[in-house]
Amino acid sequence: MRHLMSPLDLSVEELDDVLHLAQDIEAHPAKYAHACDGKTLATLFYEPSTRTRLSHEAAMLKLGGNIMGFSSANSSSASKGESVSDTIRTVSCYADICAMRHPKEGAPMVACRHSSIPVINAGDGGHQHPTQTLTDLLTILNLKGRLHNMTIGLCGDLKFGRTVHSLIHALVRYTGIKFVLISPEELKLPDYIRNDVLDKKNVPYKEVVRLEEALPELDILYMTRVQKERFFNEEDYVRMKDFYILDKEKMALAPEDMYVLHPLPRVNEIAVEVDDDPRAAYFKQVQYGVYVRMALILTLLDIHVD
Ligand code: NCD
Repeated sequence: MRHLMSPLDLSVEELDDVLHLAQDIEAHPAKYAHACDGKTLATLFYEPSTRTRLSHEAAMLKLGGNIMGFSSANSSSASKGESVSDTIRTVSCYADICAMRHPKEGAPMVACRHSSIPVINAGDGGHQHPTQTLTDLLTILNLKGRLHNMTIGLCGDLKFGRTVHSLIHALVRYTGIKFVLISPEELKLPDYIRNDVLDKKNVPYKEVVRLEEALPELDILYMTRVQKERFFNEEDYVRMKDFYILDKEKMALAPEDMYVLHPLPRVNEIAVEVDDDPRAAYFKQVQYGVYVRMALILTLLDIHVD
């Protein structure tokens, strides 16, 4: 049985297969409309979510399957003190596959050890968010036609942003990838990723504070929200929250073929005026997130459609 805790749980070849399957699903949705008839996805969300939970659910529904779940710890027996391991043993009796989001790093990993159904990590604290990475990779592939030879700017909360952590792990496996890490000093990428992933694999990167400095050389700009819920005090958050605001003026410094991605939700880091720019790709990204999760569900359930 397979789980998805990190993007590295899929080899580069398997990942390519998932992305190509997602492209086929987009092109021929009717072919897949009954692929999961009789199957059930459970969404176990101990932390707020809009896109991740609903896109997993949309994905299962579009495959003909059923959905069940809870969308906050308060509405589950976690509020009575039930452990993740007991919850997953229970859910294994009801569903065929599940997606779990949890504020504690490693909680989905605990779940998969006690689960008899595939577990998808839908975000664990400031650690990883592999299905967002699948979404990001499909978006980059569809817009740029490749996943190699690219300069990627990662901007904002690189310390707590789990989407950035997972994306780096996945992208370093392709050739010719360079990163520009754009963050304030306080929100720099953690050492365990800079040293153990970037330095160890000799991946070229530079760290800058000013977005304006980075923009002209980027193929992709990946904006992120300052992760309010992971700050220890409100004061630090307030100081950091509007550090970056991408607006029309800054977009004028960027190449014509640079795309802007954002896992969303956006707060202030992208001005609404940028939404009409043809390079703004964050809502397309939302749509790709459904196709890629459909492909992932089929892959983990080992369902093949001719
Ligand atoms: C991200 C997350 O939850 O980590 N959102 C998402 O799943 N699309 C990013 C964020 O919350 O800032």
